[in-house]
Amino acid sequence: MSMVIAVDGPTASGKGTLARRLAAHFGFAYLDTGSLYRAAALRLLRAGGDGSDVAAAVTAAQGIGPDDLADPALREEATGNMASRVAALQPVRDALFALQRDFAACPPAGLPGAVLDGRDIGTVVCPDARVKLFVIADVTARARRRHLELTGQGREVAYETVLRDLEARDARDSARASAPLARADDAVLIDTTKLDIEAAFSAALEACASRMDGS
Ligand code: DC
Repeated sequence: MSMVIAVDGPTASGKGTLARRLAAHFGFAYLDTGSLYRAAALRLLRAGGDGSDVAAAVTAAQGIGPDDLADPALREEATGNMASRVAALQPVRDALFALQRDFAACPPAGLPGAVLDGRDIGTVVCPDARVKLFVIADVTARARRRHLELTGQGREVAYETVLRDLEARDARDSARASAPLARADDAVLIDTTKLDIEAAFSAALEACASRMDGS
């Protein structure tokens, strides 16, 4: 059985950075499940879809290939916003479920474990994961990080716009009927509001050590 670490949390909480570092630390495979929803959204946008046609969104999700996951446009705000719309559609979630489950059960290259980050990994995709982390941070701290990241990439965007977008995305991800962002009962909470990356990583490692003990 593969050792699975599930890392869930809202946008810009630091979960992606933590998940990637945990995967490198343990020599596990890493899957950013948000990139699957982003890839579906990007395919849909490029096909001229607006998110209102469920069948078109499912077709986009079913067509995802390795090239889609490497597309730099995945990180654009328009893609992220459409991703949060298609992610609310249960048929789209169903279309992406097996891929995520298979990755967790049989990590690529025969690696002994997998780290998956997303919104519903600990609750829906891998409810039996050995380690579950739920990573949070105040919305203003997350907006500040996201704003820094975007301006660092040379994008001109106002902090207030980033904050508003984050709040709207949080609301959509948490309020949707299908697999909303939620902390699993057995997830360890890590609040990164006042933690730098090293402190957050230490907290994550400590949580992993306590759950992996005796494996
Ligand atoms: O983490 P991210 O911003 O790349 O995710 C993009 C969107 O996909 C986000 O609005 C939430 C959604 N998502 C989801 O519903 N379930 C996941 N497991 C991962 C992401």
